[in-house]
Amino acid sequence: MGSFPPGSVAFVQGGTRGIGLEFVRQLASCGRFARIYASGRSAADAPELLALVRQWGERVVPVPLNLAWERDIENAAATVRRRDPAVHLLINASGLLHDAANELWPEKRLEDIDAESLLRSFQVNAFGPVLMAKHFRDLLCHGRRGVLASLSARVGSIGDNRLGGWYAYRAAKAAQNMFTRTLAVEFSRRAPRLVCLALHPGTTDTGLSQPFQARVPAEKLFSVEFAAERLLGIIDGADEQHHGGFFAWDGQRIPW
Ligand SMILES: NC(=O)c1ccc[n+]([C@@H]2O[C@H](COP(=O)([O-])OP(=O)(O)OC[C@H]3O[C@@H](n4cnc5c(N)ncnc54)[C@H](OP(=O)(O)O)[C@@H]3O)[C@@H](O)[C@H]2O)c1
Repeated sequence: MGSFPPGSVAFVQGGTRGIGLEFVRQLASCGRFARIYASGRSAADAPELLALVRQWGERVVPVPLNLAWERDIENAAATVRRRDPAVHLLINASGLLHDAANELWPEKRLEDIDAESLLRSFQVNAFGPVLMAKHFRDLLCHGRRGVLASLSARVGSIGDNRLGGWYAYRAAKAAQNMFTRTLAVEFSRRAPRLVCLALHPGTTDTGLSQPFQARVPAEKLFSVEFAAERLLGIIDGADEQHHGGFFAWDGQRIPW
């Protein structure tokens, strides 16, 4: 992470599990970040995140945050401001495809769509990242290099949609992409050295993909270590040419 000077500050929104947790782990051990905040609903009691807090002390700070509540996002920004004047890397890693109770499940056909599931998907996959930008805007406008990266998904590409299905998740990620692009335009004026990115991690072995892994060839199912390392590589190398773009784990541009 050589493009971030020592002493930089990161916030991983969705850092309690999966790829987000691995971002926290890799950012803590790379030596460039004085502090890494990690949020999620379970931040106060997520065992693997708490193990990182024990390992790194005050450098890793858990922040309980439910994206369904804008007030939580506002409070998270206030928590950061109490210790740090700026955030140099903000990663939105949270995502929702299905839930533990299977009340939310990717739709196969129109009959499966319901308003409550659409709303929940949009709250986490689309509204969350843009509300993070709203409440963290002062922390991101600091004149130094910064990156705002949101984890999207290739299935959120409108141009790439040939299979159909998964209405809520696809549409929410497409909306997230539009938010990222629109933020990029506004931040070009307000924080010219901030690079905004939409990133696709590839199919990665986490709870989110677990029910859908059977049809994925072994070599196409990434470990969280691999996915996080590749995405941090893209973040580290991102400059104005990448600003407002949508990229896969291998650096290839994805059509909107
Ligand atoms: N895994 C894949 O194959 C894959 C493929 C393409 C794209 N992606 C995208 O990559 C990102 C990371 O996915 P993952 O596989 O690491 O997912 P994951 O293991 O299921 O982790 C999801 C994260 O989102 C957080 N989250 C969920 N609902 C939330 C809410 N209401 N408020 C706050 N945080 C919430 C969770 O924290 P709490 O439970 O603590 O709230 C957790 O930290 C997501 O954006 C996903 O859409 C993943």
